[in-house]
Amino acid sequence: MPGDESVVTIPDFARWKGQGRKISVLTAYDFTTARLLDSAGVDCLLVGDTVGMVVQGWNTTLRVTLDQMVYHAEMVARATRRALVVADLPFLSYQGSPEQAILSAGRFFKETECKAVKLEGGRRMGATIRALVESGIPVMGHVGLTPQSVRSLGGFRVQRDGDEILADARAVAESGAFALVLECVPRSVAARITAELPIPTIGIGAGPSCDGQVLVTPDLLGLLEDFHPRFVRRYAELGVLIRQAASAYVADVRAGGFPAESESFQ
Ligand code: KIV
Repeated sequence: MPGDESVVTIPDFARWKGQGRKISVLTAYDFTTARLLDSAGVDCLLVGDTVGMVVQGWNTTLRVTLDQMVYHAEMVARATRRALVVADLPFLSYQGSPEQAILSAGRFFKETECKAVKLEGGRRMGATIRALVESGIPVMGHVGLTPQSVRSLGGFRVQRDGDEILADARAVAESGAFALVLECVPRSVAARITAELPIPTIGIGAGPSCDGQVLVTPDLLGLLEDFHPRFVRRYAELGVLIRQAASAYVADVRAGGFPAESESFQ
C-alpha cells in the first residue's frame, strides 16, 4: 500500500498468505516505470520475459536472451526501493540442467540487485528449483499456461487439466519455491491449488481466489490498444493519451508554436 515503506522480503510472502493479505505484482522493464510502480506501493516487480512482446515487439517470449534480461533487471532493481524485484529466466537459459540454471540465475545476483528469479514448469523443473534454492537463490514458479512452451501448447490457451496443473503446482512448492504464478487456468483450479499450497499463488487469468495478482504493466496502462484479453483490466488509456500528446506536439512544431519564449534561453 502507498506509504508502507518497509522493504519487501521473501518471508513476507508466506506471512501475507497466512494473514490473507493479497499480494500485488506488476511487470517492469525500465528505471522510470519501475520507480513509479514502486512508489505506488506495488509489492513485487517482475522483470518479465514479456519484454520480448511488449517492448521488443515479437509475438512470443522465445527470442529474449539472458543478456537482455540482465540489462532490464539491472535498471528495474536500481530504481526500486520497497518492492521485491524478481527476474524471469528466459527460454533455454535454465532448461538444460540445474547447473545451467544456477549459472544463469547467478548473473542476476552478481550483476543486479534482484532478489529472486522466476522460471516456468512444474514437475520437470523440481530438481532445478531445488538446486537453485539450495544455492541461496529464491525461486518463483510458474505453471498453467507457460509461454515459453507456446510451440508445444499450440498457442496462448487457457490450460484446463486441473489434475495436471495441481501436480505441477505441488512439485513447485515441494521443491522449495516461495511463490507460484498460475497463468490462464480456470478459477476453480486456481482456488483448489491456492487452498492446498503452503506458498502464495499469484494469478494472471486465474480468478480472484489467488493469494495475489500479476498483470503485464503495458496491458494495465492501455498501451497495447489492439490487445483485449478477458483477464486484463485497463486502469488507464495511456495509448490514447500518448497519441494525443504527440499529435499536439507535431501540430505545435509545424505551426511554430513550440518552443515559446518562456521555453527558450535568453
Ligand atoms: O513474463 C512475464 O511478464 C510473466 C507474467 C505474465 C507473469 O511471466
